[in-house]
Amino acid sequence: MERKIYLDNASTTYVSNEVMAEMLPCFNTLYGNAGSLHSFGRDAVAILDRARDRVKNAINANKANEIYFTSGGTEADNWAIIGVAHANANKGKHIITSAIEHHAVLHACEQLEKEGFEITYLPVDQYGLVKMPELLHAIRKDTILISVMTVNNEVGTIQNIKTIAKIAHDYGILFHTDAVQAIGHVKMDVQDMEIDLMSMSAHKIHGPKGVGALYVKNGIRIDPITYGGTSQERGKRSGTENIPAIAGFGKAIEIATKNYIITNKKLHSIRDYFLEKLKEKVEYFQVNGHPHQKSNAILNVSFYGIEGESILMLLDLAGICVSTASACTSKSLLPSHVLKAMGVPDDIAQGSIRFSFGTNISKSDVDYVTDEIQKVVAKLRAISPIQAGRI
Ligand SMILES: Cc1ncc(COP(=O)(O)O)c(C=O)c1O
Repeated sequence: MERKIYLDNASTTYVSNEVMAEMLPCFNTLYGNAGSLHSFGRDAVAILDRARDRVKNAINANKANEIYFTSGGTEADNWAIIGVAHANANKGKHIITSAIEHHAVLHACEQLEKEGFEITYLPVDQYGLVKMPELLHAIRKDTILISVMTVNNEVGTIQNIKTIAKIAHDYGILFHTDAVQAIGHVKMDVQDMEIDLMSMSAHKIHGPKGVGALYVKNGIRIDPITYGGTSQERGKRSGTENIPAIAGFGKAIEIATKNYIITNKKLHSIRDYFLEKLKEKVEYFQVNGHPHQKSNAILNVSFYGIEGESILMLLDLAGICVSTASACTSKSLLPSHVLKAMGVPDDIAQGSIRFSFGTNISKSDVDYVTDEIQKVVAKLRAISPIQAGRI
């Protein structure tokens, strides 16, 4: 049988058996609508309540009613940015975010610009960290929201979230973080980190696709962006609740946070072993992202003198699945906005591959993958007009 090695866990993950077991009865036994008043409806409400409690505990929210289920990280990001902007426009129309956010944040901001809001996109340093003096400089009297992601999905850099949240609050500004890539990899404690709003997604942590949540601290003003049933998600997010997916998300986040120390340890050792082998076998590459303040799940490498897409396709032929950037933009040939913001020149950024690890990867898998990379890189460099050693 052909060997298949999946190194694209930052795009999505498989659904674990425990999560599937949690979801299954919701399809054909406990299939009620949480809005119904009969026993099937009450059973559905009980499943929702359990899942909400699990998410609350995983992120140390104060109350379960601060968790609103959404269709995933994208909706949570869109809602946080647009919902807070609309509800607080009377206080000001200025928002600060970073240049390396996921497009779910960036495109929501662009939408607001069309409505007359002003957005400051903070620059980052060579490691992908938001520059603090620039953050302080960007704050204005009419700034209503600062949104900075916890873990970058392309390079894995972890921002100084607690410090940024504190700065926001010192100036009476709300703070949102996209924690989609952080859950299960970084300890997220919304009370300790002073986070007002936080986006999450299930499918990055062995849960199903199409479900996530937005944490909204009680008392924060946020307008809905969907309209319909007023009983669902306390009138803030209409639409029949996706009970099987929500049940799965609850289980997935519980497991991810319970196992986070052991998962991190495993991923750290796999990533280090991978890099060690890569250095032994391949010349002329650079690792992008912070040297140590970064997620153990992500390793972003630029191979000099060759194209990331070609590497990806040849590795795919060898049964190895990687990504050139985030999954949502990997079909575009534009250099990554994240690497660009970090000052990586276009010709180097074009040769970038994101390896994102799962705990099911063994050292023998790494040996195989790095052997294949060695062959693929040699093959592509042999026909490349650019000399890798000259970059
Ligand atoms: C940092 C980040 N934010 C948001 C999203 C979007 O989440 P979803 O796929 O659940 O819509 C992703 C997905 O890749 C992500 O990595």
